[in-house]
Amino acid sequence: MKIEQNISLKPYNTFGIDTKAKAYCSVTSVQKLRDVLQNNTKDFFILGGGSNMLLTQDIEALVLHINLKGFEVIEDNKDSVIVKVMAGENWHEFVIWCLHNDFGGVENLSLIPGNVGTAPIQNIGAYGVELKDVFHSCEAMSIANQDLKTFSKEDCQFGYRESVFKQHLKGQYIITSVSFKLSKGIHKLHMNYGAITQQLDDMNISEPTIQDISKAVIAIRQSKLPDPKDIGNSGSFFKNPVISIEHFNSLKTNFPEIPSYKISETEIKVPAGWLIEKAGFKGKRFGDYGVHNKQALVLVNYRDAKGSDIYKLALLIQKTVKRLFNITIETEVNVI
Ligand code: EPU
Repeated sequence: MKIEQNISLKPYNTFGIDTKAKAYCSVTSVQKLRDVLQNNTKDFFILGGGSNMLLTQDIEALVLHINLKGFEVIEDNKDSVIVKVMAGENWHEFVIWCLHNDFGGVENLSLIPGNVGTAPIQNIGAYGVELKDVFHSCEAMSIANQDLKTFSKEDCQFGYRESVFKQHLKGQYIITSVSFKLSKGIHKLHMNYGAITQQLDDMNISEPTIQDISKAVIAIRQSKLPDPKDIGNSGSFFKNPVISIEHFNSLKTNFPEIPSYKISETEIKVPAGWLIEKAGFKGKRFGDYGVHNKQALVLVNYRDAKGSDIYKLALLIQKTVKRLFNITIETEVNVI
């Protein structure tokens, strides 16, 4: 097992932050993963697609880069399939593979950066669909004893950008593969998100296929979200906060135009992007970093920004939103 020293992590995180791994190992098989866990007593840092992290310092732990590859149809039924995908596959390449095979369910999740193995950790979601809607099960290796365990959907305790892997099992398991239940033949389309119907109209499509939905989602994402290949970023930096109806009503007096989504009889979700824009940060640039000009929820690295500077900006945004609206916005991205 080759362990390299002092490796720059810039190519391995979508924010494009140039910090170093003191020790780095690319893991290409489940057996190699077991070996490296057994033969090293150091702390481990698990790296997937690097799309949901802000690196503010060098990593002292041994970085294990999960590069397990492969797709397999493990169950083929009349109306559905179950496919097993190894953790190191790129998420969007998996979506393209599904569309190519006419397997439905992940088309609304087109173009999300990151890898398949890290998608369940934060229950990725976009345009009315979350990973949990197509999740069947996943396999994960215990860091402590190297046993492989299968987690069902219930075991994963999915929530909004949440799962058991971010909560009480944090740091204990490495996901090695994820299995998805996808539709075959007849697909259930998810078009309740206004922007999708609008985009399909603009494309003159009245009877969309899953491939059309993917094209619409890609067009919407490209119009709002920066491509990490051009501008470093980690997607939404913050989660959308949930507040009480009373709090929402008091804000509505001063800001009648505040957008909202009802969660329950007592709670309302408000878009953090709107709060950050109202706080005056949208499109603000501070040298090499700033807030994206088309979606205020996204912090960006234009060139060679330091993770710690971007983090300082995040703290300033949180403080300002708290002062103006009395709302605490939590980070969605893991700050390391
Ligand atoms: N808005 C503004 N200004 C902004 C951005 C948004 O006023 O700069 C308001 C608009 O009123 C808009 C509303 O916020 O109607 C919602 O915006 P958008 O549809 O862009 O969605 P979002 O709530 O900001 C969430 C996810 C995205 C996902 C989109 C689409 C979170 C934290 N983010 O963003 O996920 O793509 O919905 O479903 O839930 C990600 O997690 O990295 C991500 C990009």
